[in-house]
Amino acid sequence: MEFFEVATSTPTQRRFLDRPIAEADLLKILETANMAPSGSNAQPWEFVVVRAAETRRQIQRLYEEVWGVYKETAIIRGRTTLSPRAVKALKSGDEFAAQLTVVPVHVLVFLDRPKMRVERGSADDLTNFGATYGSVFPAIELMMLSARALGIATAMTTMLSSREPETKALLGAPAEYQLITLIPMGYPETGFKRPHRKPVLPRIHDERWDRPWPLPKS
Ligand SMILES: Cc1cc2nc3c(=O)[nH]c(=O)nc-3n(C[C@H](O)[C@H](O)[C@H](O)COP(=O)(O)O)c2cc1C
Repeated sequence: MEFFEVATSTPTQRRFLDRPIAEADLLKILETANMAPSGSNAQPWEFVVVRAAETRRQIQRLYEEVWGVYKETAIIRGRTTLSPRAVKALKSGDEFAAQLTVVPVHVLVFLDRPKMRVERGSADDLTNFGATYGSVFPAIELMMLSARALGIATAMTTMLSSREPETKALLGAPAEYQLITLIPMGYPETGFKRPHRKPVLPRIHDERWDRPWPLPKS
């Protein structure tokens, strides 16, 4: 697939088919993700690929717990009437949480903290977050784009971070690794839509912040 088509049609997928992903495709996706850049070329990522139904079910349960708290505190917030946007967010979030047992693969991405040489929660961690977390997200995005190029859909999720101890215990992940994302991966129920985004022009600055990028000449 052509790069620009891939890059502009990789939305968050929330509905999947119950269809397995070929192992060769999975490997190709992760080998491509592994080409990502990282600070000092530390390559501080580890991927746990979960396909076993029981483990996926347990991950789904953990995710659903966090989603339940999130929807009460961040979406419903004690209100009895909700905006159409909130109703839509609730519906797609509920469906997505349920879909986590349907989707055939979960890739859990862990960050090798010792490799980054910044102690978690330290002052350096707060000021140097770009180098630390920025050393793993390019690999995650490459993974998602590579999957898309093979017709496989994904969703970036970080909600499971608040169940990190439980997730690590479930997967036997060592203490020094930090759970960064859960990427469900599978064939989409429908196609790949172009993501909805605000126009970029108002957010491009020409040399200085106070100089807007000139409008293209028509
Ligand atoms: C860092 C990050 C964390 C995210 N975490 C979640 C999540 O936990 N659950 C979820 O349903 N979507 C999650 N998303 C997906 C966003 O909600 C989604 O990208 C955004 O609404 C735009 O939608 P689109 O990707 O379909 O264009 C996350 C996205 C990013 C970049």
